Amino acid sequence: MKALILSGGKGTRLRPLTYTGAKQLVPVANKPILWYGIEEMVAAGITDIGIIISPETGDEVQAKTGNGERFGANITYILQEQPAGLAHAVKVARPFLKDSPFVMYLGDNLIQQGDLSYFLKQFQQQHQDALILLRTVDNPSAFGVARVDQNGKVLELIEKPKVPPSNLALVGVYFFSEIIHEAITRIKPSARGELEITDAIQYLISQEKQVLAFQLGGWWLDTGKKDDLLEANRLILDTSLQTSISGEVDTQSQVIGRVKIGYGSKVINCTVRGPVIIGKDCYLENCFIGPYTSIADNSTLVDTELEHSVVLQGAKISGIHQRIIDSLIGQRAQLTLAPRRPKALRFMIGDDCQIELS
Ligand code: TTP
Repeated sequence: MKALILSGGKGTRLRPLTYTGAKQLVPVANKPILWYGIEEMVAAGITDIGIIISPETGDEVQAKTGNGERFGANITYILQEQPAGLAHAVKVARPFLKDSPFVMYLGDNLIQQGDLSYFLKQFQQQHQDALILLRTVDNPSAFGVARVDQNGKVLELIEKPKVPPSNLALVGVYFFSEIIHEAITRIKPSARGELEITDAIQYLISQEKQVLAFQLGGWWLDTGKKDDLLEANRLILDTSLQTSISGEVDTQSQVIGRVKIGYGSKVINCTVRGPVIIGKDCYLENCFIGPYTSIADNSTLVDTELEHSVVLQGAKISGIHQRIIDSLIGQRAQLTLAPRRPKALRFMIGDDCQIELS
């Protein structure tokens, strides 16, 4: 059994962060999203992992993630020249996959830990041609949606249907036998110009192949958008964070609940209410850090109130008089109070940034 993790793509919905980096490397609880997927594979016993990368962000993904040793896996990087679709990524990965059955996993998706092993066992025991995972969603029109019979057999897949036949969306985890490669050779690019994996699976269904669906009980998030990323951060902090204080916390500070503070970090006269993770070599003074906040290494926060937010490496925030919530602050971004008159807002904002002032 092999795994194929897709870490290419355009990442338009997470601009501006994706202008300068891979969305799959954006941290959730201070760990790149992509790494959760890798760890999930290894936990399920799959260590032969191919990762699809793009020409724009492939080097960064490779440099950060390495050859897999740190995960107990063997990682092969596979360059996809164009983000021409999920089925296209499988096509490009054929020399790596050969005729092995495999799990395909979208590198910006997160599923509740531990779920993969169970579905892998089902796939292997039931000798299916494909097994897909479904999750009930409130807005099925935004997803690939499945119509299934009472035995879980998939009858039809429809990409972003206007009138959804069910509220069962396709989760970004798929199990395939080698038969999927033949299906991919039979499909044509969709209206948006991509080779769609849903079309390839639909082809299998039309050929009366065994395509089974299971419903995912645990949570699933596609972190390709800001609010979903914040939600993933909340869930991971809520379920997995253990208290550990390696940095310095002065006697004026109050640390409440589950809080992790990395080596070399200083917390002075702050209230930190967990779950909160603060990385290495951060400096925090006169701050309130509220629940569900992740602050990456080398960040500086002074006279700041922050809650339910993700701060990337090297960011600086100081003197903002209002509480910052539901925010995603990019690497080395600076959010400070103007040191000089006139008292006014001064910006240098990158393309596609979103700023909400009250
Ligand atoms: P998407 O999030 O569907 O696509 P995208 O990355 O282009 O994002 P956006 O819609 O915001 O522009 O892709 C799901 C995952 O699959 C994601 O990790 C990127 C990856 N991917 C590839 O590796 N190759 C591809 O051709 C495509 C379309 C996606």
